[in-house]
Formats: sequence, C-alpha cells, structure tokens
Amino acid sequence: MSEREIIILDDANALSVRAAEEIVYVAGEAICINGQFTLCLTGGATPVDIYSMMATRFNLSVDWKEVQFFWGDERCVPPDNEASNFGLANRSMLSKLALSPAQIHRIRGEDPPVAAAAAYEEELVRFFSLGDGEFPRFDLVLLGLGDDGHCASLFPGSPLIFEQRRMVATVEIEAPQRRRVTLTPPVLNNAARIMFIVAGEKKAEAVKNALEGPNAPSRFPAQIINPTEGAVTWLLDRSAASLLSGSLSG
Ligand code: 6PG
Repeated sequence: MSEREIIILDDANALSVRAAEEIVYVAGEAICINGQFTLCLTGGATPVDIYSMMATRFNLSVDWKEVQFFWGDERCVPPDNEASNFGLANRSMLSKLALSPAQIHRIRGEDPPVAAAAAYEEELVRFFSLGDGEFPRFDLVLLGLGDDGHCASLFPGSPLIFEQRRMVATVEIEAPQRRRVTLTPPVLNNAARIMFIVAGEKKAEAVKNALEGPNAPSRFPAQIINPTEGAVTWLLDRSAASLLSGSLSG
C-alpha cells in the first residue's frame, strides 16, 4: 500500500499555489539527487493556473533546463487545437520558459492514435533506457479527476484500468475529444510521486468515491492509482472535499 496524503485548501487559488509549491519542492529534490526532474503533466482545465504560476511567480524557483516534460494523456487533436493537453501546457507555461525542444516529450495528437501511442511508448523506452518489461519511473505525475471519476484517460468501465503490460494505449469514448492516447496504470503507479489536483463542487462525488467508495476501480478508476514504491498526494479545495467524511476532511 502506498503512502497517501490528503491536503485540503480553502479554494481553487490556494490549491494552485500549494500545487506549484509542491512541484517546486519535488523538482529541487529530484534535480539535486538525479540531476534532472521528470514531470508528467495532466490535461484538463484545473492545471491552467498552476502552469501559469510555474512560469511567472515560481519561474525562478526551478532550474528549468533540467526538467523533462511528459504527458499522462492526450486528446487526438493537433497541438495548436484548444483541446490539446500539450497546447494547454504550452500556452500557459512551456512557451514562457527557456526550454530546448529535447525537453518536451509530447504525445503527437495530430497523428493516427495507434501511431501516436507507439511513438510515445518508443520515446519512453528511449528516454528512460528501459529493458523488456520495465516501466519508466517519473519523479512526479500530476493527475486531474473527471466528474465521472476518470483520471488520465482511464474512464469507468475501460479494460485499460487493469492493463498490466502496455505502457501507452489508445482510447475511444463517447464524449467530446473522443479519441485519446493515455499512459496505463503500471506506468503511473511506477512513479515516485503522484499528485491529484482536484477543485470544485462538481468533483465532490468523484472524490468521495475515489477515496471512500467501495473498492471498485472499474467504476472509480482513480482507485487503481496506488504507486508500488511511491507516494500519492491528493490536493483538494474545500468544495471538492465537501462530501468526505470528517476523518478525511478535517
Ligand atoms: C484530459 C485529462 C483528464 C483531466 C480530467 C479533469 O485530458 O481530459 O488529462 O484526466 O485531468 O478530466 O479535467 P478538468 O481539470 O478539466 O476538470
């Protein structure tokens, strides 16, 4: 069982500041120990403020040339499309930092999904020098939580929740941005640290189910996130935490 911490902040702004502070701390530690920081970014709307803060008030707190950026999932759209997870991170953070292209390991949403998944898997193998059956170990994986309980692009009912072998998979869902590419649980769970970032009342039920619901990862995919040798932090604002029992929300 991994180490789990739940931190509840007053509002979405306090949550963003705290998330940025945590990223700065983990980055400093990783760069000090390993000479680099491998950061796996999340998509969705919640991280935009965090990414913007990283590039502005926290800009001088990170040695950006030592940071390697990856993504937990991508929508199958071109990088300049508004729905692109790379595009979102690029607009709010990456384009404002002095980075070299070699630091950005994006999922190519503009390519056919199967090809994009294969290319991303190859990139992970190359970058992390993985042997057969090995998984990358990210220093930090950021994850959001959908109202329906999904994280990365692991949606309720998807067999990918129980994937054990593949690192990257394609996903087709009945929603806008139907085609996606996602990392699988064995990759996410091999991270040294995972940080969920969840804000807003409409996420309260998903948070409750993930943290206190019956053990049913197929219905509540975030429950599959349980790093083998790592820690999970849940950063919640009060609204997202509002349905948690007193012992967790106090
Ligand atoms: C994506 C994601 C996804 C996201 C959640 C929460 O590409 O959509 O990476 O897992 O984190 O849907 O998204 P919001 O922050 O927009 O609520």
